[in-house]
Amino acid sequence: MSMCDVRPATGDSSWWVHDRFGMFIHWGAYALAARHEWVKNRERITDEDYQKYFDHFDPDLYDPKAWAKAAREAGMKYFVITTKHHEGFCLWDSAYTDYKATKTPYGKDLLKPMVEAFRAEGLKVGFYYSLIDWHHPQFPIDRVHPMRDNLELREREKGRDMKVYAEYMRNQVRELLTQFGQIDCLFFDFSYPGEDGKGRDDWESEKLLKLVRELQPKVLVDDRLDLGDTDWGWDFKTPEQFMVRGWVTANGRKVLWETCQTFSGSWGYHRDETTWKSEDQLVKMLIDSVSKGGNVLLNVGPTARGEFDARALERLAGMGKWMRQHGRSIYGCTQAPESFAVPQDCRLTYNPETNRLYVHVYSWPIRELHLDGYAGKVKYAQFLNDASEVAFRTAELRHHIEGTAADTLTLLLPVQKPDAVVPVIELFLQ
Ligand code: GLC
Repeated sequence: MSMCDVRPATGDSSWWVHDRFGMFIHWGAYALAARHEWVKNRERITDEDYQKYFDHFDPDLYDPKAWAKAAREAGMKYFVITTKHHEGFCLWDSAYTDYKATKTPYGKDLLKPMVEAFRAEGLKVGFYYSLIDWHHPQFPIDRVHPMRDNLELREREKGRDMKVYAEYMRNQVRELLTQFGQIDCLFFDFSYPGEDGKGRDDWESEKLLKLVRELQPKVLVDDRLDLGDTDWGWDFKTPEQFMVRGWVTANGRKVLWETCQTFSGSWGYHRDETTWKSEDQLVKMLIDSVSKGGNVLLNVGPTARGEFDARALERLAGMGKWMRQHGRSIYGCTQAPESFAVPQDCRLTYNPETNRLYVHVYSWPIRELHLDGYAGKVKYAQFLNDASEVAFRTAELRHHIEGTAADTLTLLLPVQKPDAVVPVIELFLQ
C-alpha cells in the first residue's frame, strides 16, 4: 500500500507512520480524586471545593525515568502527555497562571524532567493541551462547564471574555512549543460547536494553528480544533475508544489516523474502575489498527503518588513481551495490498519496504491454514517468535484438496500454538 494514496500531513508524518504505537498519559489534580478526569464536571464541583486536590498535590514517588522505561519496554515509540487537561491544572511552570505544579506542595516542574526522560529512552514527544479550561476565570460557563446548572452564577459571570482566554491559550502554547525542544505531535482537545458550545471562532483556531506551524513546522496536529472542513487545519484523525472497521477516510480519501484508547474506562487514574482490557485484547487492538493503516495511543493514568499502578504495569509488560518478538509486524507496517485476501480468523499487516506480509493468527487452527490466492507469491515462511520455518504446500502436493483452489497455499502448522498471545507468521513475498 503506497503512502501516496493517503492525504498528506502538513507536519512530518514519516516517523509516525513507522512507529505506530504510543503512550498517552493523563495526569493532573484529578489523580487525587481517583475517579475519572471529568470528576469536576460530573460532580459539578466548584473551584473552592476542587482546590483540595491542588492543595494536596504531592507526587513524591514521581520518577519519569521509570515511566519512560516502562513505555519503551512495552514497545511504544512516542508519548503524549496532558500538559493541561480540562480542569486547567498545568504540569509545567507557565508564566501565565499560578494553577500549576510548581505552586503545589510538590513545588517542582513535572514536564521538563518527563520530556527529558522519554527522549533519553528514544521516544518522540507529544503534548496534549486542553482547549477547555474549567478553572480559567475568563472561560465562559457553557453547557459543558461544571457550573452549567448554577443559573445565578452564570448570570453573574456572563461577562467572561473568551478573547482573553484565547490569548491565554496562545501564550501557553508558545511556552510549550519554545521551551521543550522539538515537539513531534500536538493533541488539542476538544471542540463542541453549536449553541452554548465552543468551536473554531471561540478558540480562534486559525490563529492558534498558525502560531503552532510557525514555531514548530514539523509538528503533527490532531483534528479537534474544529477545522475539519479545511485541508490545512489537521493532520490526523483521532477515533477515541472504539475500533474502526476500515482505514479511516475523509472526503473519500484515506487519512492518517490514530485511535486513542484506555486500559480501563477512565483516562485519569481511577482506583475503583474494573473494566480493564486483557493482554489479548490489547495486543489485538494494536494489530487490528495497523492492519487498517492506523496508530494506537494507549493511555496510562498515573497515581497521585506519581506511579503507574500495578494493573497498568502488568499490561504494559504483557504487550512488551509480545512486541519484543513481534514488533517487526507492527513497525513500518500498514494495511496489506488488496490482492492478499485475509485468511480465516487472521489479520494481515504488510511492510512495503521489506515486502514481507505478516499473518496474525487470532484463533489457532488445526494443522493447516489455507491462504487463498497466495500460491506462487511466497518465497519463505517462518514464525516470528522463534524464526522457525513454517512449511507450506500448494495444490499438487496437498494430500486432500477439498475446499481449496489451485491458487491456495496451505501453511503446515504445529498442533500446538506457539507461545505468543497472537502468533505471527512472516511471509517473504516473491
Ligand atoms: C476526551 C475527553 C478526555 C480525554 C480525551 C482523550 O475528549 O474529554 O477526558 O482526554 O478525550 O482523547
